[in-house]
Amino acid sequence: MNGEQGALAERVIAWQRRHGRHDLPWQGTRDPYRVWLSEIMLQQTQVATVLAYYPRFLQRFGDVAALAHAGEDEVLALWSGLGYYSRARLLHRCARQVVADFGGQFPARAAVLATLPGIGRSTAAAIAAFCFGERAAILDGNVKRVLARVFAITDDLGQAASMRALWQRAEDLLPRSRLRSTMPAYTQGLMDLGATVCLPRRPACERCPLADMCLATARGEPERWPRKRPRPARRELDLWLVHTVDARGSVWLTRRPPRGIWAGLHCLPAFESSAEALDWLPSEARASVLAHPPFTHVLTHRDLHLHVVTAHWRGGAWLHEHGAWVAPGQWPGVGLPAPVRRFLLSASPARGGA
Ligand code: ADE
Repeated sequence: MNGEQGALAERVIAWQRRHGRHDLPWQGTRDPYRVWLSEIMLQQTQVATVLAYYPRFLQRFGDVAALAHAGEDEVLALWSGLGYYSRARLLHRCARQVVADFGGQFPARAAVLATLPGIGRSTAAAIAAFCFGERAAILDGNVKRVLARVFAITDDLGQAASMRALWQRAEDLLPRSRLRSTMPAYTQGLMDLGATVCLPRRPACERCPLADMCLATARGEPERWPRKRPRPARRELDLWLVHTVDARGSVWLTRRPPRGIWAGLHCLPAFESSAEALDWLPSEARASVLAHPPFTHVLTHRDLHLHVVTAHWRGGAWLHEHGAWVAPGQWPGVGLPAPVRRFLLSASPARGGA
């Protein structure tokens, strides 16, 4: 390691201590359960959103054993709104594995943590650094951007060989001090720099402790790094959701398939055309159909245009095996896509809805 690389770690640590974030609810603990939960929630979700979910989740599941023993539906219900539901399923599976294989104690080494469901190399390193002080390198999206700029890396980071080289760099940059507080400060410092200074579009280089060693800044227009990869085109999808209500106010919910949009969640029956949606309804219910104004729900790679139709079911020969009537007091407790939950809330008679 050359002197410049050593200087980077020292500067990041000194900056974190003065200017970094210190009062997020998952800081100031070395409990791997709490740190792991925060890192999984933060993987694809902004801090501001996680701040609302994290305490609620911990209040219900105070330790890894409580989470391991919960039913998947309850876990998904508490996750509802955070998106990327496969994360919640992997989280649950990971908790069960920590209990079954490690006696309820998270392993302390990044290399072992990375074998658990839902824990990738960077997340494993973050947990090991925060909780156990291990010298393990993180490389999440924010840190990739920081390093791509500091070193003006022009490689295509979508290529495995470029990422291998970047991981190697990230490891070479690790601080050498073995003080217990070093790795947490360094790891949090890199995260904080990426999240608050080295921003994707408007980097605040005047506040950056690395500005005078940053090659992208020296070349002007640091926002040109990292090299952009062409984004997959956003796709549009229209979905018709059938909201059938029986005489007691129960709604018919089905399970989404294990892959694709809203995988594994409970949902109103969904179709890609209004004809299929109407065909699905027993003929006795079709006369009562009422269409709600469509609304758009944005997912990462898709814009979903949602068309909900409500039908009333007053008995007769119900046609469908897949799914169940779910009582008004029950559906709030199951894992539902956020827009479906919002729709059902707005439509429930107790709230003066449709
Ligand atoms: N994003 C990922 N991990 C984080 C953390 N520990 N603090 C703030 N933002 C984060």
